[in-house]
Amino acid sequence: MADELHFELTLYPAPVLRRPATPVTRFDAELAAIVRAMIERMTDSNGVGLAAPQVGLKKRILVSSPTGEEEDVRVFCNPEILERSGPRMVFEEGCLSFPGIFAEVERHDVCRVKAYTALGEPFEETFDGFASRILQHEHDHLEGILLVDRMSAADKVRHKAALDELVHEYERRRDARPAGKR
Ligand code: CO
Repeated sequence: MADELHFELTLYPAPVLRRPATPVTRFDAELAAIVRAMIERMTDSNGVGLAAPQVGLKKRILVSSPTGEEEDVRVFCNPEILERSGPRMVFEEGCLSFPGIFAEVERHDVCRVKAYTALGEPFEETFDGFASRILQHEHDHLEGILLVDRMSAADKVRHKAALDELVHEYERRRDARPAGKR
């Protein structure tokens, strides 16, 4: 049943993480079930943000909770970043699709976002600090841009063994599946 969806995390370098996601067109019960399952996956994984490609869906949906608490969960369907402003800040980011890997990323402190709720209601809101950083990171996912693309050359070298291990694990899992399901 649609209301009993459960998602696993999609880890780097799964191809779905690289494909631009497509807009949500129907704000229906199926979308509500997807959003609920994304929130469950994020909180169960102790994450502060999750984009639909990270659960294998090529859809423009983000969820976030800067505090990690259920009551602070926000949902953004078809989010657009209208403007980035404020000082550029460097901060260490992680990503549920890159377990154990953290890297400093420079981003603007402030972003203004236009999006829709899971019920299809449009809203615009300005975020700063950690909430803004999460949204910019998760919005990258919808464009197929990943933490590995944002990290410095030095961090890429520092994390090379861990990144290579993710690639090897992905290839092992892929090659263990029947050919039709690859
Ligand atoms: Co991420």
